[in-house]
Amino acid sequence: MHRKHEIGHYVAEMQSSRTLHIPVLQTTVMNVFQPKHGETVLDVTLGLGGHAHTFLESVGEAGRLIGLDADQRNLEVARKNLSEFSDRTTLMHANFSQLSELNLPRVDILFADLGLSSPHLDDPARGFSFRSDGPLDLRFDQSRGVTAMHLIEMSDEAELATIFRSYGELYMQARRLASTLAGTQIATTAQLRTLIEELFGFRAKAILPLVFQALRIAVNDELTALDALLHVGPSLLKKGGRMGIISYHSLEDRPVKHTFRSLTTPLKDPITGKISQDAAFRLLTPKALVPSAQEMADNPRSRSAKFRALQFRL
Ligand SMILES: C[S@@+](CC[C@H](N)C(=O)[O-])C[C@H]1O[C@@H](n2cnc3c(N)ncnc32)[C@H](O)[C@@H]1O
Repeated sequence: MHRKHEIGHYVAEMQSSRTLHIPVLQTTVMNVFQPKHGETVLDVTLGLGGHAHTFLESVGEAGRLIGLDADQRNLEVARKNLSEFSDRTTLMHANFSQLSELNLPRVDILFADLGLSSPHLDDPARGFSFRSDGPLDLRFDQSRGVTAMHLIEMSDEAELATIFRSYGELYMQARRLASTLAGTQIATTAQLRTLIEELFGFRAKAILPLVFQALRIAVNDELTALDALLHVGPSLLKKGGRMGIISYHSLEDRPVKHTFRSLTTPLKDPITGKISQDAAFRLLTPKALVPSAQEMADNPRSRSAKFRALQFRL
């Protein structure tokens, strides 16, 4: 297991936050999808619209893009960044966990670039960064749900230990941290950081990103949303349509890999072992695609990225 992949976006935070605006794996994603004139793209993690901009250029005037983001503020920035294409974009404030309820048409390309975006780390008021002080929020969608502060307050010791174990892959530290946090009110990122530093001393540096990752996944119910995307997404593809996901840690990549494998594996006759039914989908990425050494050097956030894609057969 690659440590860098596990701690995802927070590696970048520890190393740099200068170059986070470059869309990750941009060229790779476009090479795999090969967007064509007139195609319809569904980008379920619009962010600031970086990938979406390239999709819109590629599909031309007859093409269109539907974009979702759970974060209202990112959505508004994306709306500005994509304003030259406004006649062929539909942007919605929505979580991709609701994909089945949005009455979306079938699309040629469905793309997700999971997790947080640079403004989440750069704005201390969002509470995603352990490097700056702000309210312990960590919600993508500030119009609903509970903040990390409330989650900690509402959860008992066992629930907190499960969060740190399951989503931060912390073990001994999970119990110790949970027993310290249970029943307390931690209002700010700096308070949480200080507490972790006091508890774990020199090991706090390695533990901090995992604690923030765990809280972020729990607050945004990220793995449930990913399950919904993996379940509903393939059914939204037109014949020949492609679906691809960039993940940033193993908790995200594992379900993507398994779902894509099972959708692309043909049925075999249990007696003869011969293929009895071809799979409806084919893998476009037999192995996950990762950034080049140059991209990793240019954009530290890309270091943990893995891209997998499949196609609904014609
Ligand atoms: C890595 S950024 C996407 C960056 C984008 N590809 C770009 O080029 O600008 C991920 C975005 O997905 C959003 N997001 C995360 N989980 C989501 C979910 N379940 N539903 C909708 N949006 C989500 C975040 O708010 C963030 O803006």
